[in-house]
Amino acid sequence: MKYGVFSDVHSNYEALSAALKEFDKAGVDAYAFCGDLIGYGPEPEKCARALMKLKNFIPVMGNHDMSLFRDDFFNWFSDYAKDSILFTSKQLTPPAREFIKNFPPEYHGKDFAMVHGSFLDPYRDYLLSAEQFVLNLDKWQGGVCFVGPSHVPFIMSYKSNHMPQIDVFLGADVTVKLLPGHRYIINPGSVGQPRDTNVRASFGVYDSAAHTFRLLRRPYDVESVQKKMTRAGLPDILSNRLKKGT
Ligand SMILES: [Fe+2]
Repeated sequence: MKYGVFSDVHSNYEALSAALKEFDKAGVDAYAFCGDLIGYGPEPEKCARALMKLKNFIPVMGNHDMSLFRDDFFNWFSDYAKDSILFTSKQLTPPAREFIKNFPPEYHGKDFAMVHGSFLDPYRDYLLSAEQFVLNLDKWQGGVCFVGPSHVPFIMSYKSNHMPQIDVFLGADVTVKLLPGHRYIINPGSVGQPRDTNVRASFGVYDSAAHTFRLLRRPYDVESVQKKMTRAGLPDILSNRLKKGT
């Protein structure tokens, strides 16, 4: 099976379209979405509608998604993130809202596992270190796990009795061979708000038969998204960071 793997769309429809186009070209059979469909960006409804159309769509819920439904998550955010959630809440139609509400906290499948933050805390954790990898080891089975929230693409690999190794994806269109006997935690980066100083949408294609993960970066019309954000009255800090990739 070939999976289009993506995370942290954050209501950025232009960036999402660039990713979906590449998934089409790659001929993916299914989609693995690591959470945070909404928040920050200007087009939550359009993004939700695009994902609702996908066949074999496997999602998990992110912390921004959850803040639509739980006040304790909403209250945890910065003021500008709260502004974007309030904007999102007004934009979403009941079917889109219901679609997001059904995202589960974790996914455990034949070919991979998936969670937004970590299995210790799906919504508030950021799985970034070798120590966290070890703490999560017995929470999932198999060789591959996808995570989200840092917005920086990386791959961690682990072999029994060795400390996990962490590699940040520095280039685009990098293919990694996934070795037998190893376990991997992979962050595909963020589609709609990359934070590794690369403004291009970040996502990947996982081929479970060939045992490969390919990281892709694609440009999209950042200025058009910024204009939409300004028109929507979203905070400048959110549109400015798209141009910097931070
Ligand atoms: Fe996010």
